Amino acid sequence: MLAQIDRERLPRHIAIIMDGNGRWALKRKLPRIYGHRAGMRAVRQGVEACHRLGVSYLTLYAFSIENWKRPPAEVKLLMTLLREYLKKEMEEMQRENIHLGVIGRIHELPGAVRKDLQNALARTRSNTGLHLTLALNYGSRAELADAFSKLAMQMRKNGKMEIDEKAISRSLYTQDLPDPDLLIRTSGEMRLSNFLLWQAAYAELWVTETLWPDFRRRDLYQAVLDYQKRERRYGGLG
Ligand code: IPE
Ligand code: IPE
Ligand code: MG
Repeated sequence: MLAQIDRERLPRHIAIIMDGNGRWALKRKLPRIYGHRAGMRAVRQGVEACHRLGVSYLTLYAFSIENWKRPPAEVKLLMTLLREYLKKEMEEMQRENIHLGVIGRIHELPGAVRKDLQNALARTRSNTGLHLTLALNYGSRAELADAFSKLAMQMRKNGKMEIDEKAISRSLYTQDLPDPDLLIRTSGEMRLSNFLLWQAAYAELWVTETLWPDFRRRDLYQAVLDYQKRERRYGGLG
């Protein structure tokens, strides 16, 4: 499958809504947390696939602001898994020259998580390969609200100021990232769940029934192949 992909026309930025961990566990009559653990393996597959292809940006929706509504034990486990992931994958990230980034209300995460994140960001800062961004405590509407507050503050400081699309994009957590070209969601749900609403305006959507813990490199290659068959028109005539 890899051979069929046109390396000249890769999506520059792939974003993934990693969904279906709970259903994966339920199918096996296991507690949901087993699904989250199994989902970590799929993260490695997605990252590896992008690395092998030479995709520049990969953004993973790992924890939404709305996910705090879940039972405290599940939230706690998700935070623990994140810390485990950062520890376990650091060597691999260095070897593969991966540059880690985060988007979301990071300051609201537990202190220990923030510390591990800061450490991982610092260690991968000078890496020049795949830009891997984790969306943590992320919500697109919260991001927009934060951006508008920032702009309002700048406006108060500077007096008159024009708020155009560029100014808004520059004020989002994603200011350093290009807009996603391909947005993948696993486990069949046809919704964005408050992910990159502004940035995904012209992203190509690709939804698979595969549950996130079953996601493998070939699924990502399949998504890219399908993406390459699409005609992107941006409202024009193509
Ligand atoms: C995605 O899987 C992981 C997170 C949202 C953190 P879910 O936990 O949402 O799994 P389902 O959707 O209940 O199957
Ligand atoms: C989206 O999945 C959030 C993440 C993958 C982190 P959810 O499972 O939280 O979304 P809904 O509740 O199905 O919309
Ligand atoms: Mg879900």
